[in-house]
Order: sequence, then C-alpha cells, then structure tokens
Amino acid sequence: MVKKKIIELILDEYTSLEELSTEEHLLVKEAMKASMHAYAPYSHFSVGAALKLDTGEVITGNNRENASFPAGACAEHTAIAYAGANYPGSAIISIAICARKNKDFTDIPVSPCGKCRQVISEEEDRSGRKIKIILYGKSGIYVIKGIENLLPLHFSSSVLCH
Ligand code: THU
Repeated sequence: MVKKKIIELILDEYTSLEELSTEEHLLVKEAMKASMHAYAPYSHFSVGAALKLDTGEVITGNNRENASFPAGACAEHTAIAYAGANYPGSAIISIAICARKNKDFTDIPVSPCGKCRQVISEEEDRSGRKIKIILYGKSGIYVIKGIENLLPLHFSSSVLCH
C-alpha cells in the first residue's frame, strides 16, 4: 500500500532589513560587503556569504569563478571551508547569503545551490547545532531555522554507518 508523506518546510519572510534582529541585520551587511569582492567575471553574479560562529567570530566568503567553469567555488562553500580550516572546533550558528547581478542585489532571496545545502547540512551534523539561514533579496528576506527546511531527506553520515 502506498503511503503519501507530506514534508513541511517552514521559513519566516520579512520585507525589510530593519525587521531583522540587529545580529541578523549585521550578518546580512557583512554578506553584502563580501559580495563586493566576488570573483565572477563569467556569470557577473556576485554572491556574498557571512557566517556567525559560536565564538562570536564573523567569517565571510564570496564566489570564486574559473575559466574552467566546474573549478569555480560558491560563496557559502568558500566561507565554510575557511571557517573549518581556521576555527576548528567552532560551530556555525547562522549564515547570511546575498547576491548581486550587474551591481544590483537580487529582488528574490538568493537560495543556496544543492551542493552548498549539502555542505551546510554536514556542518549541522558535525556540530550538532542547527544553522539559521538568512537569504536576502530586495523584495523579501527569508529566515530559515535549520537546513532541514531547505534540504529535506538530506544525505547524512548516519546512513554510512549501517
Ligand atoms: N553561486 C554561489 O556562490 N552560491 C550558490 O549557492 C549558487 C551559485 C555562484 C556560483 C557561480 O559563481 C555564480 O553564482 C553563478 O552560478
């Protein structure tokens, strides 16, 4: 017998930066600053990511493109790799992401690609803490409590152990 399962994704939508908490607002500002230094000569899509660690540290990253397209790296991945390499043992508690196309921030909240969702998911599994994900767009801002709301049925290490 087939059983239909419905998976619910929950997010909070805000209409302006001013509605966010001061900490969330500042993290988005850091992501915006980081997007200014993206290396995106091929897509002209400049992504910025800012992470807040449990130590209070803020780590930023941006996309790094390459003439050999698959060799490029996403902003989220760049920031997460830097945090892991330089702040071992600390947990990521939130991440803000934004993107500019031809100098202007996107209208819709920019959403992490599938690979970056998987990378964020690994960080939650590693630290045992949910990560708040803030997706900025000029017409709306999504605040998402935990990667399960972006990547349901995610692949995790638990399946490797059986
Ligand atoms: N990009 C990111 O940096 N993060 C994402 O989650 C989606 C896409 C970058 C990769 C590439 O440099 C550009 O955006 C266009 O795809």
